[in-house]
Amino acid sequence: MKTQTVNGIELAFVDEGGGLPVVLVHGFPLDHSMWNAQIDALSRRYRVIAPDMRGFGRSGVDQTTVGMERLADDLAALLDALEVRRPVAMAGLSMGGYVAFQFWRKYGSQLAGLILLDTRSVADSAEVAAGRLEMAERVLREGPAPLIDNMTPRLFAKTVLDSRPDIVDTLQHVMLNTDRRAIAAALRGMAERPDVTGMLAKIDCPTLVIVGQEDAISTSDEMHEIARAIPTAEFLEIAGSGHMTTMEKPGEVNAALLEFLDTL
Ligand code: MLT
Repeated sequence: MKTQTVNGIELAFVDEGGGLPVVLVHGFPLDHSMWNAQIDALSRRYRVIAPDMRGFGRSGVDQTTVGMERLADDLAALLDALEVRRPVAMAGLSMGGYVAFQFWRKYGSQLAGLILLDTRSVADSAEVAAGRLEMAERVLREGPAPLIDNMTPRLFAKTVLDSRPDIVDTLQHVMLNTDRRAIAAALRGMAERPDVTGMLAKIDCPTLVIVGQEDAISTSDEMHEIARAIPTAEFLEIAGSGHMTTMEKPGEVNAALLEFLDTL
């Protein structure tokens, strides 16, 4: 992985291939490796930039509250440091989608296309936000284990949970190795993220919305609503997948991404 210091933090990132830059924005509490199958497939035709966001993977850790806007600012600064001077395609899964929405809001003219996977446009309810703040304190005391126990059953389709221990283990390993301070910082940041539903109608770049049919975190119905609200969006539901579509159904996701990217 390469590294680049932006906004006071060292970011580690993959930068492979050439052509249209495609930025892959990972979910929580994960790193670029949730995109491994996509990095492999897309970098044959495109320049794939897949960072570990502030706090995650091999990037430097920030102990304060890390808001979605700050993560979007880091992506803009990274692209600037890499001298990317043309609009990029950006794909964000779940928390990565929250960041991609903020990127669109602040740096929309730099987007040639947007891919939203298994994400939400609404803010947290007061109850969910309070639960995140409680979990942040718990993780700081006990480490990531309680969060992993809480998230694992909701991340995958039932058949994947039952029959693909390799995928489940890989993801748990990443979560277990995530710095507890970064987990707490991002939990606080997600708890205070804004509702962006009202801005969906203004998104005017080509957009692809993808959801796993069994996604328990950002449901298919909810993602369908997002796709309906964005005038330029196409919608794809992937059967037999939960929240982690990129890992559960890499073949389908890669095919959809390539087909979409080829139109940009
Ligand atoms: C994610 O996958 O990034 C998280 O589930 C997002 C969230 O907790 O809202």
